[in-house]
Amino acid sequence: NDLLKEIKELSAASAEEAEQLRIKYLSKKGIIPQLFNEFKTVPNEQKKVIGQAINQLKSLALEKINNLKEQFEQSQPVSDVTDLTLPGTVVPLGSRHPLSIIRQQITNIFGRIGFSVAEGPEIEDDWHVFEALNFPPEHPARDMQDTFFITQNPDILLRTHTSSVQIRTMEQQKPPIRAIFPGRVFRNEAISARAHCIFHQVEGLYIDKDVSFADLRQTLLYFAKEMFGQDTRIRLRPSYFPFTEPSAEMDISCTLCGGKGCNICKHTGWVEILGCGMVDPAVLSNCKIDPHEYTGFAFGMGIERIAMLKYQINDIRLFFENDIRFIKQFKAES
Ligand code: PHE
Repeated sequence: NDLLKEIKELSAASAEEAEQLRIKYLSKKGIIPQLFNEFKTVPNEQKKVIGQAINQLKSLALEKINNLKEQFEQSQPVSDVTDLTLPGTVVPLGSRHPLSIIRQQITNIFGRIGFSVAEGPEIEDDWHVFEALNFPPEHPARDMQDTFFITQNPDILLRTHTSSVQIRTMEQQKPPIRAIFPGRVFRNEAISARAHCIFHQVEGLYIDKDVSFADLRQTLLYFAKEMFGQDTRIRLRPSYFPFTEPSAEMDISCTLCGGKGCNICKHTGWVEILGCGMVDPAVLSNCKIDPHEYTGFAFGMGIERIAMLKYQINDIRLFFENDIRFIKQFKAES
């Protein structure tokens, strides 16, 4: 009975100690095999009780010592070269590019009022970038666009605006159409702090029965407030685009001074952020949409411009240099 208690309370501080215990109790000359030897001398009438007791001792000792051993096997280092106490290797987490963050915000804002997203090719033909948008050949407005041609063939060009995707959408889909068109565009302009030969646009198009200029204004006011804060005001100034009539340019009240006058708004209180207008009936006809049945509005903005205003960035070239010290400052909302 003492031995039973002793075995129950066995403990070991290392694998070697557990092995020592095995030798002491279970090896050929250990305590328990000794007991089996002595068992021969036990009188017959006691054999049953004592036999059971020794067997119980043996299985208890086996179990106990095996458990002790297992415990050390598990806590042994996986291998000699793995030091589990070393601090982990830092895996740097990337961040999203500020242009991606702003594009996502614009997409979400218009998504909430039912605009879907469509994309199209960057290498385009004359029809989708100019002709269908009411720029006839030799039209002076083509010069405003500083087009890159990539071969001798003037029909193959880099799109100068994502209005080309508006045309592709109208050619493929029947109204009602409510979509925005984010994408990269190209213009042969000298690179400076304010202009780049590559930039990003989001254009928008809404075509249905009885769409009015008031719908355009209210949609853009909603956008401006969601993007720049609920206090933001807008104003529309008459402008010209071949594919919209009437056309307008939209200003928002300055995000920095709220309209009082500062460097960002050049002391006017307003900053221009986009072009817009009612889709010209000729453009609808070009896409086989009946202008007597349907009307629509369109708008287009530069993502860089919105990002520069929102984050107060003063040089457009920063977006394209991929300097990690610049890029990692921007955090997505979700
Ligand atoms: N496509 C015009 C541009 O690139 C922007 C625009 C789109 C203006 C839609 C009016 C309507 O400058």
